Amino acid sequence: MSGTGQSELNPDRIPKHVAIVMDGNGRWARLRGLPRLQGHNAGMIALKEIVKRSSQLGISHLTVYAFSTENWRRPEDEVLGIFKLLVLYVRKEIRELDENNVVVNIWGDWSLLPGDARAEIQRAIDTTKGNTGLRFNIALNYGGRAEIVRAAQSLCRDVQEGTRTLDGIDEGAMSERMYSGGVPDPDVIIRTGGEYRLSNFLLWQSAYSELVVTDILWPDFTPDEFEKALIKYQLRNRRYGGLA
Ligand code: IPE
Ligand code: IPE
Ligand code: MG
Repeated sequence: MSGTGQSELNPDRIPKHVAIVMDGNGRWARLRGLPRLQGHNAGMIALKEIVKRSSQLGISHLTVYAFSTENWRRPEDEVLGIFKLLVLYVRKEIRELDENNVVVNIWGDWSLLPGDARAEIQRAIDTTKGNTGLRFNIALNYGGRAEIVRAAQSLCRDVQEGTRTLDGIDEGAMSERMYSGGVPDPDVIIRTGGEYRLSNFLLWQSAYSELVVTDILWPDFTPDEFEKALIKYQLRNRRYGGLA
């Protein structure tokens, strides 16, 4: 470690929860004169390495944004192609994920996905649910606003049924009804592809997350780049509204 900077990860300050907006697949493909789906395919390969490094670093929760509620606006062949790639990814990786003690979860409404994708997802959840290592959450057909509405509806239903009072709706109760119920808020949200926005990702949970944006396009995001982003996080001064 040097004077003002830090060139290596501090193993004592590894974030508990890392979230990633995996952006830039399309631009990566365009730069190479390839169809966009080739970019998504390259993105799946990058993801595999980041999951592995996350486990090795002792991160407890990794949440990746794979498909937003707004991504349905894309041409149908891209949308269906992304789901096809997802099926292939899960089919290919499930054994290794399981061997590495990873628990796979999905955040988002995946009931609207094609049948083969749903079947593969269910298998991944069932196969890994007893594991005790990295909790790997894939945000799929996920939207932060939809998640908040869903939590609010669920609490209102309790009130309607008489199992909760109005005062029983507080921040803690809302947090419990999010997909992330029981999971600590992300310490850091990394976004590849250079855009400075959340694009409807983890709106509730990101209140005090550190944001790290890199221009690197997702398929080029290597485990070394991942560590560089985590070092940037470690250099931040988190105050939570208090004083340093
Ligand atoms: C992110 O890459 C993957 C998804 C949104 C599914 P993009 O496909 O958004 O890539 P760019 O932003 O067009 O480069
Ligand atoms: C965010 O990327 C969604 C995912 C990475 C899955 P987008 O490419 O959809 O975001 P915008 O459209 O640039 O905000
Ligand atoms: Mg994009």
